[in-house]
Amino acid sequence: MTGSDYRYQQLESWLLQGIQEQRWHLGERLPSIRTLCQEQQLSKATVQHALQRLEAQGVVEARPKAGYFVALKPDTVKAPRSRVRIEAPRPVSVSDLLLDIMCRSAAFDLLPDLHAGDLPPGIVALNRAIGRSLRRQRGDDYQYYDEPAGALALREQLTLHYARRGLTLLPEWLCITPGCQNALFLALMACCEPGDVVAVESPGFYGVLQLLEQLQLQVVEVPTSIQTGMDMDALEEVLERWKVKACIVSPAFATPGGALMPVAAKQHLLALAERHDLAVIEDDIYADTALGNVPDPLKALDTGERVILCSSFSKSLSRDLRLGWISGARWHRRILHLKLVTQLASSRYLQQGVAEYMADGSFSTHLRRQRHELRERRDRLIASLQTWSSGLRVSVPHGGLAVWVELPEAVDTLASYPKALEQGVVITPGPLFSVSGQFHNCLRISFAHPWEQQRMAALNRLPELFADR
Ligand SMILES: Cc1ncc(COP(=O)(O)O)c(C=O)c1O
Repeated sequence: MTGSDYRYQQLESWLLQGIQEQRWHLGERLPSIRTLCQEQQLSKATVQHALQRLEAQGVVEARPKAGYFVALKPDTVKAPRSRVRIEAPRPVSVSDLLLDIMCRSAAFDLLPDLHAGDLPPGIVALNRAIGRSLRRQRGDDYQYYDEPAGALALREQLTLHYARRGLTLLPEWLCITPGCQNALFLALMACCEPGDVVAVESPGFYGVLQLLEQLQLQVVEVPTSIQTGMDMDALEEVLERWKVKACIVSPAFATPGGALMPVAAKQHLLALAERHDLAVIEDDIYADTALGNVPDPLKALDTGERVILCSSFSKSLSRDLRLGWISGARWHRRILHLKLVTQLASSRYLQQGVAEYMADGSFSTHLRRQRHELRERRDRLIASLQTWSSGLRVSVPHGGLAVWVELPEAVDTLASYPKALEQGVVITPGPLFSVSGQFHNCLRISFAHPWEQQRMAALNRLPELFADR
């Protein structure tokens, strides 16, 4: 800092230094604007300017009506490294361990047997809306199936929801499904034949690997950054070397580390799709868990009818609803047919209830409240992880429900899985997010649940487990 700095720059440097020296820890509130004005003898505009500059750098986060909070400890949160290996397409064989983990609540909780706490208000309101819808059923409704596309009222609400994210959809371009996993299944069935090659993120969502195995599709893993998603140069190389039929991406907060794909990468992807005649399957399930602005979907940029949008309420509202949707671009008619053949129809009263929940603003209220909670849970998790070891690298996602942790090379998270289980703790080892045996020293940890005492204790037991070889 020099004497010629403006006063807002002096304050900015002072706050930054305080954060680096851990005077304020990750997730902690900075002194209020009023306190800073008084203590530093500065005007409100100067203080606000300094804080806004720190916010733009991602160092602090503004929370409405609560103040400014430390978002990152600059230079101390080390991002996990991307892997660079590109291997030839191969058939998929998913391990039994994955099935074991899936049966344990998909390892989205370190302690899946711990059921504590009251229902959040957003879920109370949802249950009421569904209850009202059930009570309004007409006498003979139970005798009929819904149309395959699903309830119009829900599809209309979804079009309004996407319009806020810059995507114009008509209700007839949407089909309701029993979740996003099923939407991905329909998408793959519609655009691929057995033996075709599908490009996926690596590390990426293990549910996709299971689908590829079932559909006898081959996988080619594309190196993926934990910050910015699938590496488009690597995808380009893959597309030049092999004939690839489809590519599955999660531009908004990809599993496992919450990567957010920049707009330029999305444009690059669509240009490649056009050049190589590729179907692009967009898994948008985490978009509504955004801690800040909700990014526009990839599909909003799609002028070639190539992006099949898949999503559900599982991450934003309830996994138990089993309600998702798909917008199938040029494959949409085939997808409607496949839905009819594989599922017949979705439950009408459930869809009507959720449509009303969205229409009366309850869903938006729930998302706003949840955003606040998720940010706190993420910050508590990262703050706790930073006490583990200096060699640890961790993603700092701005959405999604998990962080990706890279431990020292010597750690084998897969070998630690049974040991953790003996202590009642379910971990999600890194190798599950790939079929090529990478990521042995990595692990996904979820912040979907509150960090109450028992869960925090389970988290704090992990370093010991990984050390014990
Ligand atoms: C990235 C991703 N896509 C899809 C799904 C499946 O979601 P659903 O519960 O809607 O079937 C999950 C569930 O964990 C997921 O993480």
